[in-house]
Amino acid sequence: MKPRPEYYDYTYDMFIASIDGEQSEASRFSDWIDAAERDGVYAFEAPRLEGQKTMVHARRNDGTPLHLLNFSSYNYLGYGMHREVIDAAKAALDQYGLGACSSPVQAGTNELHKALEQQLIEFVGLPGRGVSLFSSGYAVNTGTISALMKRRHHIVIDKSAHMSILEGAQLARSKVHYFEHNDADHLKKILEEIAPTASRILVCTEGVFSADGDYGALDKIVPLAKSYGAQVLVDEAHSFGLCGKQGRGVAEELGVLDQVDYLVVTFSKALGGIGGAVITRHEIARYINWYARCRMFSCALDPAVTAGVTKALELAGGSDGAARRTRLQHNAAVLRGALEGHVNTGRSRSWIVPVIYGPENLSIPLADWLQRHGLDGSVMSFPAVPVNEARIRLFVTSEHDETQLQQCADIVRGAAVELEFTITKKGTP
Ligand SMILES: Cc1ncc(COP(=O)(O)O)c(C=O)c1O
Repeated sequence: MKPRPEYYDYTYDMFIASIDGEQSEASRFSDWIDAAERDGVYAFEAPRLEGQKTMVHARRNDGTPLHLLNFSSYNYLGYGMHREVIDAAKAALDQYGLGACSSPVQAGTNELHKALEQQLIEFVGLPGRGVSLFSSGYAVNTGTISALMKRRHHIVIDKSAHMSILEGAQLARSKVHYFEHNDADHLKKILEEIAPTASRILVCTEGVFSADGDYGALDKIVPLAKSYGAQVLVDEAHSFGLCGKQGRGVAEELGVLDQVDYLVVTFSKALGGIGGAVITRHEIARYINWYARCRMFSCALDPAVTAGVTKALELAGGSDGAARRTRLQHNAAVLRGALEGHVNTGRSRSWIVPVIYGPENLSIPLADWLQRHGLDGSVMSFPAVPVNEARIRLFVTSEHDETQLQQCADIVRGAAVELEFTITKKGTP
């Protein structure tokens, strides 16, 4: 039998530690990529030759052409490729030029930003609230949390929350606590312990969790946190524009939207652009505008994207958005149905469909196998997910058709047989 190449045993932490001046961790990491590329199994960073459609042309770094079923883009409603969205962005490009070229608290704010703020408030149906815009969803969390929370404060985070929330808490240097994923009883225990002496507590959770595709138990967590005097941040990166009666997200769907203190949204998912915002009390948004360091000391959101995102939001708030959301829900159910019972799709109930195969050392050959069989699905390993819970993460969009959904399921099921991670009964992650 052919010996297994060493680079299959890659884990992220292998290349972190090194204190020498030559940055040997970087050269060892680079050698690792070279070895995988030499054997033709490095499937990451293959450049795309077109935008995020449901089928895309791409190219391996060795020149091999690829035509892939695209299940690795979170252009969930297809707005990133929508004609009217692109036209709005083009018009802004002509009028305002390429970049905002200044901090938003200086000369970087333009009328387009103001229009987007207004549109966001209308979309979420929370008149009187304020908006703070950022140039990425990641920056919304790091900037907001570190602006609001100080050393002696407490931040309580769901264990499955996104890295940007954890990093925001690190920057704040507050006391950080983690509650078991979606576990209101565990959260209660922590709050009981800290609430009597804490001056400020922030509980952070998500609408749809990005690695598992399950919903945050917001109907339990939000009122519980409030009953202990805590404030609540809900990151709706993967749910804003996608669920709830008006498309406002999971907080809307579970009836707690008006209780959320910090509603975090990104523009890179349902709206197909880039950037993000926190929607909060008017005076707090003003404070964040000045005290979120990654906002104050960084360039404002670029004009073309701002106009494109505003158009996408307008469409998402009307019948077009409603129709796309219906298709998205349908498509997600079709893909989950075609996979369940064959592979482990964990606790997904959304358009993020994980296929949990387990050991990290399958990630390199599996990513390669999928790509060579025509499927682009994101492969995720530790530390993005717990050890031994590596997974393919499939993003369903409203634009996939039935044939593409079935083809995707067929390829994944084929991979499971070939690389031996089939299940006969749906397991738990
Ligand atoms: C839950 C969550 N929050 C924030 C982000 C960062 O958003 P962006 O990629 O728009 O910066 C992501 C990214 O996927 C995410 O999954």
